[in-house]
Amino acid sequence: MWLIHRAKRLAKLSNVNSLKARCKCDVPSTRLKDKIKNGPDLKYFITSSNGISEPVEPTRIPYLPDNINFSTARRKVYFDVYGCQMNLNDIEIVWSILKKEGFERTEIEEEADIFLVMTCAIREGAENKIWYRLDHLRGFKRRRANSKKKDSPVKIGILGCMAERLKEKLIEKEKAVDVVAGPDSYRDLPRLLAQTDSGQTAVNVLLSLDETYADVVPVRLNQDSVSAFISIMRGCDNMCTYCIVPFTRGRERSRAAASVVDEVRQLAEQGVREVTLLGQNVNSYRDVTQPANLTHTKLAEGFKTVYKSKKGGLRFADLLDQVSSVDPEMRIRFTAAHPKDFPDEVLQVISERPNICKMLHLPAQSGSSAVLERMRRGYTREAYLRLVDHVKARIPEVGLSTDMICGFCGETENEFQETLSLMDLVDYNVAFLFPYSMREKTAAFRRYTDDVPDHIKKDRHNRMMELYRKKCQILNDKEVGNTHLVLVEGIDKKTGRFMGRNEFYLKVVFDEVELPCGEGRREVKPGDYVSVRIDEARLSVLKGTALRVTSIGEFYRDLGWADRKLLRN
Ligand code: SAH
Ligand code: SF4
Ligand code: F3S
Repeated sequence: MWLIHRAKRLAKLSNVNSLKARCKCDVPSTRLKDKIKNGPDLKYFITSSNGISEPVEPTRIPYLPDNINFSTARRKVYFDVYGCQMNLNDIEIVWSILKKEGFERTEIEEEADIFLVMTCAIREGAENKIWYRLDHLRGFKRRRANSKKKDSPVKIGILGCMAERLKEKLIEKEKAVDVVAGPDSYRDLPRLLAQTDSGQTAVNVLLSLDETYADVVPVRLNQDSVSAFISIMRGCDNMCTYCIVPFTRGRERSRAAASVVDEVRQLAEQGVREVTLLGQNVNSYRDVTQPANLTHTKLAEGFKTVYKSKKGGLRFADLLDQVSSVDPEMRIRFTAAHPKDFPDEVLQVISERPNICKMLHLPAQSGSSAVLERMRRGYTREAYLRLVDHVKARIPEVGLSTDMICGFCGETENEFQETLSLMDLVDYNVAFLFPYSMREKTAAFRRYTDDVPDHIKKDRHNRMMELYRKKCQILNDKEVGNTHLVLVEGIDKKTGRFMGRNEFYLKVVFDEVELPCGEGRREVKPGDYVSVRIDEARLSVLKGTALRVTSIGEFYRDLGWADRKLLRN
């Protein structure tokens, strides 16, 4: 409800802003009244509620002042992306929307007319990187204004989570910024950019209740890549007390399963061999446009949720089932999954499908029940450890990754020790470790004190890193002599060797250029699955000998997994 109020208020604000812009453009006042009357209503900002947003006709741009020259043709856009994988996918959505409007893309700064920076607000450090980049872009803009090309001034647009967090303040603080667009307003970008043609700044930071960009087919920035990201949901309702994401990305909403499956199919046809399904909490996925398919268990003992579970609809296990059935040779990954919501149905599908990577991201955040309570994570240390045991029992070959925060409000040395002991117990293959960074608006900001001094946060961070490195090296060493299924991505820039990823997303490099394939031999190419015997293990890279070109089906059949469902088919 608060979001609807807020959207109404913001819709009002946005109209006010655009009116101000028109006044400066000398639009006669009678026309102005018409335009207010014919301007966009709330529906324009909050799209339909059937799970699929209505496409906005590209040529109809509501209430765009007549004297704005909407000249998109040949305008070259340079993209910068910061933050998480969702941002990588979002920039492809943005590019799809702009391309349709006639914009061009450049990877050369000097050629650019527009810089669009996709931003992250998760920690202060993430935002500092962006301020630093903005310093550079401001200088670039100034140089262009004083050069021979001064008639085509550079525009700077800030998109994504930092845009949503700071809103108009971004322009107040950084005068060089022309456009501020939050994560749910990318369809509006052509209009916002057009507004800057008359020297105005343009802001749209409205959050939507159901925008999923389901009908926008992302245009991949790297067409040669063998892997792709697909956002299956947006927003987050979890409200972990430390986290800014619910404020920057808005309410949780899922994209219709049919559109996800279609996109996987299209990507498979384009030769993509691996997709990663993205969401802040993929296991709370719910396509409410569909009737329920499977029966589901309740939250496991020791887990609770801050919001009411949705009723009916297709759930994540159903989606995984459908997505992994599109092409048994397409690898499926997903991230992030919240530990509170891991029903057996999901584990079942993962365990029986050879093309779903047996790597689960189970972000613990802390090993102390008291800290977890303050973080409002909805589970205790014991419940988390029980879940890990359960997952390992259901999928014995599983790999685990985590996110951990140290130095959260009130964290004592003993509580931190519990985080270290959890890391010691669980054996994570991959861990992302962060010192806590207080974010305005969050519950922690309102309720707690950021009282762990920086030098202690730093020290705890170093200790977590040290433990992780030690444990991870031991795990990787155990892989020496084992054979891994590797999806070849291309040539590694550092070593000049072939590089690919194993199931755990660990980099694997090898030298062999030509390999046995079926009855013959052929050169290895990106997109091939190869079996690689591991000879040497480092922390973040395994080196090996490639044995043959293979397939997911063949590899697991050779390993004796023939009793798995897909292989039987
Ligand atoms: N939805 C995902 C994570 C999104 S943010 C999930 O729940 O796993 C990625 C990670 O950033 C979080 O898992 C958390 O470990 C970290 N993070 C979030 N807010 C933070 C903050 N204020 N300070 C430090 N780390 C933070
Ligand atoms: Fe942030 Fe928690 Fe949502 Fe992840 S689940 S995005 S950590 S609020
Ligand atoms: Fe950053 Fe937003 Fe992702 S805050 S981590 S870009 S959801």
